[in-house]
Amino acid sequence: MQTIFSGIQPSGTITLGNYIGALKQFTELQDDYNCYFCIVDQHAITVPQDRLKLRENIRSLAALYIAVGIDPEKATLFIQSEVPAHAQAGWMLQCVAYIGELERMTQFKDKSAGKEAVSAGLLTYPPLMAADILLYSAHLVPVGEDQKQHLELTRDLAERFNRKYNDIFTIPDVRIPKEGARVMSLQDPSKKMSKSDPNTKAFISLLDEPKQIEKKIKSAVTDSEGKVRFDKEEKPGVSNLLSIYSVLSGKTIPEIEQHFEGKGYGEFKSELAEVVINHLEPIQKRYYELIESEELDQILDRGAEKANFAASKMIKKMENAMGLGRKRRR
Ligand code: AQP
Repeated sequence: MQTIFSGIQPSGTITLGNYIGALKQFTELQDDYNCYFCIVDQHAITVPQDRLKLRENIRSLAALYIAVGIDPEKATLFIQSEVPAHAQAGWMLQCVAYIGELERMTQFKDKSAGKEAVSAGLLTYPPLMAADILLYSAHLVPVGEDQKQHLELTRDLAERFNRKYNDIFTIPDVRIPKEGARVMSLQDPSKKMSKSDPNTKAFISLLDEPKQIEKKIKSAVTDSEGKVRFDKEEKPGVSNLLSIYSVLSGKTIPEIEQHFEGKGYGEFKSELAEVVINHLEPIQKRYYELIESEELDQILDRGAEKANFAASKMIKKMENAMGLGRKRRR
């Protein structure tokens, strides 16, 4: 059976973007792959975080993974910082990466733009992400489109390591969903929807209440044409809403366009709000059952144990390949 790895940062409550681009794919893949799903809290601290809020977000993200349908009997769900091999492997891969290639990463450029104090961790985030993936010999990494460049770098680092030291890493492939690979901000459809966007009207979080969802969709930026039709270039706002509608309802874009023929944006937005609210209702219900439960801690303890077991084997191989430590005697 092939292996899958993917992670999400607990940098806020996950959005419809994270759900459609990543989480939804995970639930579809867990039956056919050996899956490792991670709460990448060490990635989250590359930008400032409130410690109490971060703790809350970590637990909340764990509960959401399960609430959307990740089955802990099938997939290994764990917290990155509870598996020290990630930081160890991340360091080794930083020593294989070049500063120039890290500086070229779009996410680094975006997140550091206009900031006076940028953490070194923001620059060296991609080798840590490569470590996350390579430790488990993942064949496939399901992510949204924004992570494609980091995946390409992961492949480069793995190939470079295999050539320079020892051929120990599996070269992973990226898996990007056909529809919803880049869900856009509701307030600025030229920008992707992000959970840490300071404008909370720009995203729908998986835990938003029905009233909030309705309000956010009603105030989503559209255009003055008044026709519900898909055209990413000319009508980015409406096209984004159509994509969300399509993924969550299972209807094709032409079917939805036909359904709204002759109707205005008001009706379209009301129905979309209903689709989103109905889709999130069972997820939220399961989430609130789980969030304070011991069951959640047990799942995370088991996940950490399984991940530590697998990752420590790869760390030994990496150290051996690079000549770290003492030669072990039998
Ligand atoms: N707008 C999006 N559309 C589709 N997929 C998305 N993803 C993120 N935003 C969108 C996918 O969600 C997964 C988890 O992402 P992450 O938490 O590791 O970091 P990110 O990509 O930086 O996501 P955010 O929401 O924008 O977080 P912040 O605001 O903290 O930077 C990934 O698979 C990502 O592709």
